[in-house]
Formats: sequence, C-alpha cells, structure tokens
Amino acid sequence: MPFVSFEGVDGAGKSTHVGWMADWLTARGHRVVMTREPGGTPLGETLRGLLLNETMCADTELLLMFAARAEHIHQVIRPALSRGAWVLSDRFTDASYAYQCGGRGIAVERLRVLEHWVQQGLQPDMTFVFDVSLDIARSRLAAHGAADRFERENAEFFERVRAMYHWRAVQEPQRVRLVSTDRELDAIRSDLQQLLLELGA
Ligand code: TYD
Repeated sequence: MPFVSFEGVDGAGKSTHVGWMADWLTARGHRVVMTREPGGTPLGETLRGLLLNETMCADTELLLMFAARAEHIHQVIRPALSRGAWVLSDRFTDASYAYQCGGRGIAVERLRVLEHWVQQGLQPDMTFVFDVSLDIARSRLAAHGAADRFERENAEFFERVRAMYHWRAVQEPQRVRLVSTDRELDAIRSDLQQLLLELGA
C-alpha cells in the first residue's frame, strides 16, 4: 500500500489537510496508519521532545532525526505497509533536507549517507509539500502561541527551508508535489483528492 509523507514550512497549514486526508481514505474503506516525525514511536517521541526544546548543534540535530527515523521505520512504517495499510507520515526525510540542509546548512552528501543507511531503499510513494508565502506562514505561526526551537528561527531560515522544498519538487517531480494553500479550502481538497486517486485510493 502507499507510503505518503506530508511536508511544508511551519505554518503552511499541513496538519489540517493531513487529518482530512486520513478521514477521506478511511471513509473509502482503506486501513490508514497516521504517524509523524520526529516521533511515531515511544523512543521517537522522547527524541522529539529533545529536538524541539533542547539546544544542540546541527550535526546532533540531524543524527537524532535519523535515530528517531530508524526506529520509526523498523517499528511502525514497514510493519504497517506489510499489513496492507496506507501509511501517512506527517513529515519524513524531505524535512531533513529542508531544515537541516537548507535551514542549518549541513551538506546534502552527509544526509544522503544517512538516508541510504537508515531507509535501505524505502521512499515515500508520494510527498505532498504544502506551500504558502512566508508572510502567511509566519502570521499563522504567530497566532498559534508558544513556539518551539524551529518555529523561533528567523525569516531567512524559513526562506532556505522553503527553497529546499521547492528544489526537492524540481528534482523529483513524480514523487514530490507542491500544493499551494493560499486558496479556498474546496480547491485545495479537490487537488488532494485527485492526488490520492492517482495513488490508487
Ligand atoms: P511539525 O510537523 O511542525 O510539528 P507541529 O505541527 O506539531 O509543530 O514538526 C516539528 C518540527 O520538526 C518542524 O519544525 C520541522 C522539524 N523537523 C526537522 O527539522 N527535520 C526533520 O527531519 C523532521 C522530521 C522535522
């Protein structure tokens, strides 16, 4: 069954749409496992708490993201796919490209080594990148209260994160699809539905 990941800069509106897609697929009779990164397992959620709150250098951040991911793949993603469920992950490795390479400046080659090691060929069948102008993203973030360590980064950081997501979509146009979220909800949902149908929903 398909493995689908969801991405975007903080404030792009991802969570709303992911919940809707999970409900839509379930209503069509599919088994759906909804999960997230960093997190998705008890150890991963502990690592998430550290990643979102503790000061650390960029290399530590990248390595902890992949430590959580290794556990997530082993305990949740592969078993669910073998059981015939759709796996919907709120973020996956494209977030490491965007935030740790784009945002923090770690060389892409370093990330690729970890990606091959930890994923052993596993890639999402499709990745939705929710995209919105940074002005809108930042005003949404400001409205939702207490910010974590990533959300407190400056505008230039988010410009680099967003640019890396765009670059991923250019590099892998079949897998990585940009979905613009500064539109009417109905228009967005109709696009999402179309993409899910493309995946065999
Ligand atoms: P996020 O989905 O934004 O959580 P929430 O919607 O609850 O705020 O994810 C948390 C943060 O983790 C987000 O700012 C991006 C960051 N992140 C990385 O920097 N690298 C990664 O590989 C992943 C998976 C997430």
